[in-house]
Amino acid sequence: MRYRRMPIEVESPEQLGYDKIRFNLTESSCADLTFGELNLDLASLPLAYCDHRGKPELRTAIATDSGLPSRDAVLLTPGAAGALFIVATTLLGPDDHLLVVRPNYATNLETPRAIGCHVDICDLRFEDGFDLDLDRLAAMLHPQTKYLSITVPNNPTGTVISAARLHALVGLAESRGIRLLVDETYREMTYGEPLPVAASLSKSVISVSSLSKTYGLPGLRLGWLATQDAALMETFLAAKEQIVICNSVIDEEIAWQFYRGKPAWLARNRAEIAARFALVQAWFAAQEELEWVEPRGGVVAFPRIKPSLGVDVDRFYQILQEQHGTYVGPGHWFETDRRHFRIGFGWPRTADLAGGLAAITAAVRAAAR
Ligand SMILES: Cc1ncc(COP(=O)(O)O)c(C=O)c1O
Repeated sequence: MRYRRMPIEVESPEQLGYDKIRFNLTESSCADLTFGELNLDLASLPLAYCDHRGKPELRTAIATDSGLPSRDAVLLTPGAAGALFIVATTLLGPDDHLLVVRPNYATNLETPRAIGCHVDICDLRFEDGFDLDLDRLAAMLHPQTKYLSITVPNNPTGTVISAARLHALVGLAESRGIRLLVDETYREMTYGEPLPVAASLSKSVISVSSLSKTYGLPGLRLGWLATQDAALMETFLAAKEQIVICNSVIDEEIAWQFYRGKPAWLARNRAEIAARFALVQAWFAAQEELEWVEPRGGVVAFPRIKPSLGVDVDRFYQILQEQHGTYVGPGHWFETDRRHFRIGFGWPRTADLAGGLAAITAAVRAAAR
């Protein structure tokens, strides 16, 4: 493995220091919950190793919610990030080929690169509405392709594919004898009806998700992967055991106590997301300098400064940060043009979101002069 720190991590707000940012529009999750809000009872929890696959009751609940046949199809992991690492290191070696859709969550690109496998990238284009072109994807598959990697709803664009398109992708994976990895970390934040959990559709699919984004629990480090392929699951378990043996028993217990009240949290956060998204839409309607593909899920948007405008992009970021204390996710975090930037609208307080959006308007206009 050849590890390299990713810009999105090096420049992340937690590394920069939250105290240096006035309006933090970089986060891709809902507002963080506090320990006190969860009303937890942990006093009698033995601080022991726990089930290597993860707390059985929690896995059963996730399997039921996901349309999976049993908890055997679910492995709890340290965040979705831990699940993605297990998938990549289990399935990929230096001689293998991976097809990954970009833009994407950076780890989905970087871990396969660290492994040293052959990575081909299918770039989604702004001009196509960041839509997935199945024929283009099919033409990029090799006999050595181990899996096709997508994120839906997408991070950073917030775009979503149709159920028919998901079924077609599953069919493509089955017909080519490859696996489909669907990073579904934002699935429950889809504005309309969420897609089915992809791993419920076929043995060829691996789904990855976590409690981090929809519920504002990224500090819990509680995620999971799902597959109906029992032999593959056994290898994923071997990988997990060699990395961490088992999850933190504290994280799993908190997650389980939280999960039992999950529907109420989900309803609350979905209402909050809708209100914030309406605010972003209203702001965006007045931005002549910007264009976007309107998100359909998640709490991020990925607008860009119109290429026809003579805006000094570096100056835009400098003004935004230095004069307005506002931090967004610049395009290079996602290996794309820095005219694009990611706005996270689920995390800041409403007043801070409004302040950050106003700062973006002011900075673009100042950089265009
Ligand atoms: C698409 C996607 N997948 C996975 C992760 C990792 O999330 P976590 O490990 O907190 O569950 C992120 C975090 O930003 C993400 O955006």
